[in-house]
Amino acid sequence: MVIKHFSSIDSTNTYLKKHYKELDNYTFISADYQSEGRGRNNRNWISENSKNMLFSLLILDKRLFNHYKEISIIVAYSILKELEKLGINNLMIKWPNDIYVKDKKICGILLESIATNEIDCLIIGIGLNINQKEFIGDYRVNPTSVCLELNKEININQFKNNIYNSIIYFLNDIMNNVSYYNEIIKYDYLKNKKAYYSINNRKELIKIIGIDEDYSLSLIFNNKHINIDNGEIDIV
Ligand code: BTN
Repeated sequence: MVIKHFSSIDSTNTYLKKHYKELDNYTFISADYQSEGRGRNNRNWISENSKNMLFSLLILDKRLFNHYKEISIIVAYSILKELEKLGINNLMIKWPNDIYVKDKKICGILLESIATNEIDCLIIGIGLNINQKEFIGDYRVNPTSVCLELNKEININQFKNNIYNSIIYFLNDIMNNVSYYNEIIKYDYLKNKKAYYSINNRKELIKIIGIDEDYSLSLIFNNKHINIDNGEIDIV
């Protein structure tokens, strides 16, 4: 594991995209502040300076590329387990990879890949709200943080080590074909919910069945049972 920290950067994901060729597998890049933090679907990721965990992990080990679909959900699960140890209750995983506390989002994950002919690397970017107390602005989902849930600030640097170790532990396990599916579905936020699925600029009403064994999302749309690999789901 290699760890590099910046007090300020454009985006930790963008840094890895630029520098992956000269870096090692399992390099973590973190920052106190991002001037161009990126979220899923071209949204911005805005985070108060020094209050939260903003980091990205580089994966160069080809054995993990076969587990592409599993990776972001297992990273969410590995972070959820550490949040549980802090004493946060009601933690859920919203497919494909957000972590919620009840109906509020505490962590978002942006999985990117670089491919020429085949995959060169995977970049997993994580924004985990830790000590931020006020979230001003427009958020698709109400945010929360560790501090808001526990009513106390925690030491980001100490907690970071636990998070990094947990992520590597679970990634190594899935590389060795250990399955956490039965554990993960206990935290399936979307299970049995009615929702809107955004596809081709249209919002379709769907009934969710839940996370399937291949980590796609199983749902009913137009009376048909289908599985989707990506997309944006909004609860009705
Ligand atoms: C989401 O939209 O929920 C995903 C958010 C991912 C944000 C993190 S913060 C660290 C890393 N660098 C980025 O620019 N984005 C990710």
